[in-house]
Amino acid sequence: MSFGVFPLPEAVEPMMSLAIIVREATENDLRKVMSINRAELPENYPYGFFHFVWKKWKRYFLVAEYEGNVVGYLMSMVDGRNPLVPPSSDIRRYIENGKKVSHLLSIAVSRKYQGMGIGSSLLKEYLNRLREDGFDISYLEVRVSNSRAIKLYEKFGYKIVRILPFYYMDGEDAYLMVKEIDNSSTGWR
Ligand SMILES: CC(C)(COP(=O)(O)OP(=O)(O)OC[C@H]1O[C@@H](n2cnc3c(N)ncnc32)[C@H](O)[C@@H]1OP(=O)(O)O)[C@@H](O)C(=O)NCCC(=O)NCCS
Repeated sequence: MSFGVFPLPEAVEPMMSLAIIVREATENDLRKVMSINRAELPENYPYGFFHFVWKKWKRYFLVAEYEGNVVGYLMSMVDGRNPLVPPSSDIRRYIENGKKVSHLLSIAVSRKYQGMGIGSSLLKEYLNRLREDGFDISYLEVRVSNSRAIKLYEKFGYKIVRILPFYYMDGEDAYLMVKEIDNSSTGWR
């Protein structure tokens, strides 16, 4: 199992020397992942769905550990064929043109640990893996009101390509955000 170690930004906690560890989730992590998801997001899934995604796409199901505890996760599916949420026409076009596509399904960090660079560390490791594995596209949906997450995605090169009206159960619109992965560079942007 490979993992990345990311030093904390100095401005956050100068007294702490502990690092954020990003690694692939194990089956034992799934309950904790589920509890972070329930606490931090209105979009929740049954255990079986987490297990299905983990089992099928372990390499792209990451957790972040801080002080020995799992405090964040990122889960994704390969090729965008999500049976629950069929991809929009923009994404279908990429798939039909033979592009290798990843759908970032969900990312969350426990509230107490937000703003410390953990979400960035998860996204960085995910994108590094996509690049190593020759992916062309990563896409996601985000609530139009979730400016914090939108900022995070923009920082990593995702662009808003479309509004998906009434995407969420409560009627809120989503932005469809897409990142084209530059396989020629070694950096993460
Ligand atoms: C979105 C989320 C995953 C970001 O994780 P995080 O660990 O807090 O993110 P980071 O500390 O790495 O910050 C990443 C970027 O987010 C933005 N950000 C962080 N804190 C912010 C705040 N208080 N206000 C506005 N933007 C903020 C900044 O652009 C930041 O980059 P910068 O520090 O280089 O400026 C986290 O806030 C979260 O779990 N939110 C609830 C769940 C959620 O909304 N998930 C996304 C669903 S689509």
